[in-house]
Amino acid sequence: MKKLLYIDANVNRATSRTERLAQALLDRLRANEDVEVTTLVLEDEGLAPLNSARLARRTAGTAAGDFSDPVFAYAKQFAAVDEVVIAAPYWDFSFPALLKNYLELLCAQGVTFNYSDEGVPTGLVRATRAWYVTTAGGYCGDYDYGWAQVDALCRLYFGIPDVRRLSAEGLDIVTNDVDEIMADALRAIENEPL
Ligand SMILES: Cc1cc2nc3c(=O)[nH]c(=O)nc-3n(C[C@H](O)[C@H](O)[C@H](O)COP(=O)(O)O)c2cc1C
Repeated sequence: MKKLLYIDANVNRATSRTERLAQALLDRLRANEDVEVTTLVLEDEGLAPLNSARLARRTAGTAAGDFSDPVFAYAKQFAAVDEVVIAAPYWDFSFPALLKNYLELLCAQGVTFNYSDEGVPTGLVRATRAWYVTTAGGYCGDYDYGWAQVDALCRLYFGIPDVRRLSAEGLDIVTNDVDEIMADALRAIENEPL
């Protein structure tokens, strides 16, 4: 059975539009094939950014090829799945800091990527497809730096060949019809080629 990791970086999840889109995508993926979904709710994980002590442990682990330290736990989990769905609202041209803390922990050399002798990153993860689901109050245009980072990390570091973004935008513009925008986004998810 295919293993899928759902990384839920939503805040106010009961009312989150991003969460609604992500769940629709998960339903679609489940309907398409046999998938086992593991959900990681980042809000519940107590994620802290790397500090001197944890960075030192990570550097030492990578140098020794010993990834038993807990600092590698999220990277090991991510590296072992077949598909990934990341959901995060569009905040401040990016995503919540919660997701940044998590992504920082994923970038563990020796687990999710390595460098060639020429310094070129080579992916080590198993996943062949990653999704980034977001919703925005306005329109992101060329300024979704959160997606830019997720896309670069997934493709260039982790070596995931198929990385896609799904969104609903303009949701906080009072003259917009929010239900219609959401219905369009849900339809787009239904029609996404798998
Ligand atoms: C802290 C915060 C920062 C936000 N920053 C932006 C922003 O930079 N641009 C924008 O268009 N909308 C911004 N928004 C609006 C959200 O993108 C929008 O409401 C989104 O749909 C929230 O997702 P959710 O319903 O899943 O919580 C922000 C909202 C919050 C709470």
